Parts: sequence; structure tokens; C-alpha cells
Amino acid sequence: MRKIAFCLALAIGATYVSHVLAREDDGNLMKQAQSQFKPIPDELPTIKGITVTPERVELGKWLYFDPRLSRSWLISCNTCHNLALGGVDLEETSIGHGWAKGPRNAPTVLNAVFNVAQFWDGRAEDLAAQAQGPVQAGVEMNNTPERVKQTLRSIPEYVQSFRKAFPDDSNPVTFENMAEAIETFEATLLTPGSKFDQYLKGDAQALTKAEKKGLKLFMDKGCSSCHNGINLGGGGYYPFGVVEKPGSEILPTEDKGRFAVTNTASDEYVFKVPSLRNIELTPPYFHSGEVWDLEQAVAIMGSSQLGVDLNDNETAAIVTFLKTLTGEQPKVEYPILPPHTKGTPLPVIEVSSDEKMGH
Ligand code: HEC
Ligand code: HEC
Repeated sequence: MRKIAFCLALAIGATYVSHVLAREDDGNLMKQAQSQFKPIPDELPTIKGITVTPERVELGKWLYFDPRLSRSWLISCNTCHNLALGGVDLEETSIGHGWAKGPRNAPTVLNAVFNVAQFWDGRAEDLAAQAQGPVQAGVEMNNTPERVKQTLRSIPEYVQSFRKAFPDDSNPVTFENMAEAIETFEATLLTPGSKFDQYLKGDAQALTKAEKKGLKLFMDKGCSSCHNGINLGGGGYYPFGVVEKPGSEILPTEDKGRFAVTNTASDEYVFKVPSLRNIELTPPYFHSGEVWDLEQAVAIMGSSQLGVDLNDNETAAIVTFLKTLTGEQPKVEYPILPPHTKGTPLPVIEVSSDEKMGH
């Protein structure tokens, strides 16, 4: 009898506990979140157009870290997309060749493979198209495809590595294959396992009450109408200032965003909705990089995109939620790069004219 009573008490207890947990979690919140967002897969997903082989990933890693892809031998992809810093440079706008300041903030490369297109204005359709840009851009690595090819072909270990990575090509050391290898490496730079992803996978305890409150606000206020899907962004384009244009210190008038790509009047000041994954690690914010404080960025979004004045508590709650989007950072072993040879074009150092004038 006692035993039965004990079991009964246990059963009631268990029901009560799960009831309380369910209530505390508000199962609807989880369902609502699962309908709008997706976790980052633990395993590398199959992505159209990307052939992942260990040889290609390794070659891509070399190239990603090799500053000799730049004219000065000072700048690699990792200079501006530092994998020790969440894949960014923590500068308002990037500093490139000859100490020149670029026009936009560097977005992270982490999880970028899930974005619909690359760059703030979406002008590169995928990571391979993207990777050809910075190598050539005057204010970034300032190199030419010819010089890059010459550099890579002058280093026997690179030639061998391209052969292994592109076994079907008779002449594998090309600018296009360089970009493809970098793309393949970048596709491995994922950050699964965040608290939010644990929650999306059904662990109601993965988020605290405060974090859940922030998640609820994020969805109820309408942030997730643009920041949704696997990257909480990266899926489409919207004007910065749907309801109210921010001041020109935050939205500089000369950068008209997607307008430069499509030449369509309705695309003026339209930008790709950025991913909010690892957002805590990647200040300063916006394409102008003018906002260092995440709470301020959230408040600006409220007024500019939704026409709502979020109060301090709401802003803080949303930021508390956003911090649950930080995932496990990819573990990358720093590659030891093969030495150059006599045939390798030597570095060229140029100082921008502003510097020469002593500005
Ligand atoms: C001098 C700094 C600098 C260097 C070097 C650089 N980048 Fe970037 N990267 C940027 C900036 C700034 C942007 C945003 C430019 C824009 O949107 O117009 C960007 C954008 C990107 C994006 C788009 C991400 C997104 O969400 O839209 C990817 C991917 C990327 N870079 C990868 C690379 C790779 C690969 C290399 C090396 C081949 C590289 N970058 C070299 C500064 C740099
Ligand atoms: C109508 C679409 C839309 C809505 C709604 C929206 N955003 Fe955004 N969000 C954007 C766009 C577009 C940008 C890029 C702005 C820029 O820099 O050009 C952005 C940028 C951001 C950034 C900066 C990201 C970075 O890497 O620099 C944060 C943080 C952000 N949004 C959070 C929020 C929050 C929180 C809400 C709700 C209060 C919200 N957004 C609502 C479209 C939207």
C-alpha cells in the first residue's frame, strides 16, 4: 500500500514537474520558434555546387591564410575575417592595401554559406564568386588573377595541392579553382551547438526565462519577419529604414546599397538582411560599422524597421536572447605554408597618397 502511494506520489510529482516545465517553457513558444528558425547542422550539409573533399578543404585553408595572395604579402582573408575573432576584423570599415580604408564593415564568414548571396548588397551569388572580389579589390588585397596564378604556380607544394584538390583538371592552378577551394574551406566554417539551437532541437531548458522573454519579443515585435531561417537573416533584402531612415552618420547617403547592383530606384538603401548568428562577437554593427553597442543597434532596428520604440527592458531582453546565438567556433589548425621560390613575384608595398601627405 505504502509502495503504491509512493508510486502515485512520484507519478503525480512527475506530472506536476513536467507540467510546470511545460508552462515555464510555454510549449507554444518553442513551436513558434521552430516554425521560423532552423538550427545549424552539426555535420557539413550538402550544398549545391560545392564539392567537399579533404584535399580541397586543406587547399582552401592554405589560401585563406596565405597573405601572398595580396600584392603586399601582408593581407590574407584572415586579416579581415579573423577566425580567432568570430570571422571579422572588429573595425568600423575594413583597412586594406596601402592602409586604405574601405567603404563597408566586414561581415563574418562564419555560416556565410547559408546566405542567399554574398556582400551587403548581394552582388556575389555565392562564395566562389565572392572570393575573387577581395583578391582583386584595390582597397583590399590589390592583386591580379595573373599575378596570383604566377605566385601559386611558382610554389611546387601549391601545384601539387591543386592537383590533389582538382584531380580531373589537366591545368588545375587557376584563379577560378583558387576561389572554389576557398569556398569549400569556408563552407566548413559553421558554428553549431548554440544555446538557441539546443532549444530549437527540443531542449526546453537550454534557454533561461530571460532569454525566452527576449526570443518572444524578437518574434512578437516583428524582428523575425526579416531575421529568420537558419542564419536569422541572410535570406533577403530590405531597405535600411523601412519606416524611418536613420541619420546619415549611421546610414551614409553615398552608399545606396543594392541600387548599385540592380539600378532600380526601389533598391536605394536596400541591403541584405544580415545573419544574427554570433552577433555578440561581431561588432561594430551595420554596413557602416558605426554602432558598437548591440543594445543601440537593436533600438535603431526597432525604430527604423518596425516603427516601434523599444523600451530599455525590451532592448535588453532582446540582446539577452541574441547572445544565445553564439555557437561553437570552428577549430582551425593554423596551416604552415610552403615557402616561395625564385619564380615568385615579390611583394610590392604602396602607401596610400593620404598617408604620403602625412594625413
Ligand atoms: C581588407 C579587408 C578584407 C579582406 C582582405 C577580405 N575581405 Fe571579405 N569582406 C570585407 C568587406 C569590407 C566585406 C563587405 C563588402 C561589401 O559588402 O561590399 C567582405 C565580404 C565578404 C564576404 C561576404 C559575407 C556576407 O555575409 O555577405 C565573404 C564570404 C568574404 N568577404 C570572404 C573573404 C575571403 C574568402 C577573402 C580572401 C580571399 C576576403 N574576404 C578578404 C573585407 C575583406
Ligand atoms: C524589414 C526588415 C528588418 C526588420 C523587421 C528588422 N531588421 Fe535588423 N536588419 C535588417 C537589415 C536590412 C539590416 C542591415 C542594415 C544595414 O547595415 O544596412 C539589419 C541589421 C541588423 C543588425 C546589425 C547586424 C550586423 O551584423 O551589423 C541587428 C543586430 C539587427 N538587424 C537586429 C534586429 C532586431 C533585434 C530587430 C527587431 C527589433 C530587427 N533587426 C528587425 C532588416 C530588418
